[in-house]
Amino acid sequence: EKGNYRHFMQKEIFDQPDVIGRTASHYVDPVANVIRTIEGVDLSETDRLLIVACGTAAFAGQVARYWFAELAGLACEVEIASEFRYRAPTFLKGDRALFISQSGETADTLEAMRLCAEHRVPSMALINTVHSTMAREADLVLPTLAGPEIGVASTKAFTCQLTALACLAALAGRQRGRIGAAREREIVEALLGMPARVSKALDCEAEIVKLAPELAEHRTVLYLGRGPDFPMALEAALKLKEISYIHAEGYAAGELKHGPIALVEEGVPVIVLAPSGPQFEKTRSSIQQVRSRGARVTGITDASGAQALQGELSQAIVIPDSDPLIRPILEAVAVQLIAYHVAVYKGTDVDQPRNLAKSVTVE
Ligand code: F6R
Repeated sequence: EKGNYRHFMQKEIFDQPDVIGRTASHYVDPVANVIRTIEGVDLSETDRLLIVACGTAAFAGQVARYWFAELAGLACEVEIASEFRYRAPTFLKGDRALFISQSGETADTLEAMRLCAEHRVPSMALINTVHSTMAREADLVLPTLAGPEIGVASTKAFTCQLTALACLAALAGRQRGRIGAAREREIVEALLGMPARVSKALDCEAEIVKLAPELAEHRTVLYLGRGPDFPMALEAALKLKEISYIHAEGYAAGELKHGPIALVEEGVPVIVLAPSGPQFEKTRSSIQQVRSRGARVTGITDASGAQALQGELSQAIVIPDSDPLIRPILEAVAVQLIAYHVAVYKGTDVDQPRNLAKSVTVE
C-alpha cells in the first residue's frame, strides 16, 4: 500500500493535502463559510481548557494554546499525560478537558481521561482512530480524518490535529464573542485553501534533500522559534531525534541567552522557524546571535522572510504564504521532510525506528 513511495512515512507526508482537506471539510461549512456547530461543544462558559496528550499530540495542543488565547480569550493548560496524572492536578468548576491522540490507546492519556471523569470534568477527545478505547470513553469525540498512520513517527495525524484544533479555537472564538464574522470567514477560507498550500510546501523537498547530508554529519541540531513556532521547534526536534537518531533540541528563541547559546560553536546547525510577521525582527536578532558564533543557520520562512534574511542564512526553506494563524501546518511539512531525508541519508529504519512502538499502551 506504499504505492510509489519508499516508506510509509513518505507516503503519509505526501497524503497531507488530501487528509487535511478532509479534516477541514468535516469542521467547516464551505457554503456558508463558517465553522460548523458541533453538538455538545459550547465553550462560552468554559473558564479553563485542560489539554492533555503525549509526544507529538501534546505539541499540537501547545500550538493550539496560542490559538485558543488569540481567537477565544480562553485560558489553556497543556500538559503531558504522564505528568498530569501523577501530580495531583487541581480541578476548577469551569474546567473542560481535551485529550488528543492519534491511536486513542496511549495508556497515560487514557488514564488522564479517566482521572478527569472521576472528577466530573467533561471530556472531549480529538482522535484519529475512532474505534479506540479513548473514543469509547470520552464524553464527546472529535475526529481527525487522517486515515491509518503506519509510520511510527506521526506526520499526517499531527497536521490533521492542528487543522481540527484551529477550527475548534475559531468556534470557541465565535461562541465567546471574541471573533467577528469577517475573521471567521478569513480563517475558514485559509483552512479550505490549506490543501493547495500544503501541496506547494511539499515542493521544498528539493531544497531539503540538499541539506540532509550536512545535517547527517552533526551530533547536535538546534531548532528555534517564537510563539506557536516554539512548540513547532519542539516537534521538529522530536521528529529528527526519533528517526535519524541525531540529538536535537527545540528552544524558544528568546531563551537562547539563558543557556542554549553555550552549545553554539563553529559549524553547529541551527534551524530557525522565522516567518515574517510581528515577531520577525526579534527572531532575526536570534539568527544574528547564533550566526556571529559560527552557527550554520537554515531558515524556514516565507518568501518575504527569505528576502529580508538574504545574506544572513546559509539556506532558506521557503514555505508558501498563508494566514499566519495556521502557518504551523505548513512549517510541519518542512520539519517532517527534514527528519525524513536525514534518516534516509543515514539509512536508518524510517518506518520502524529503534526502541519505538507506534502506540504506547503501557506506561
Ligand atoms: C512522535 C509520535 C509520538 C506520539 C505519542 C502519542 O512522532 O508519534 O510522540 O505522538 O506517542 O501517541 P498518540 O497520539 O497515539 O496518543
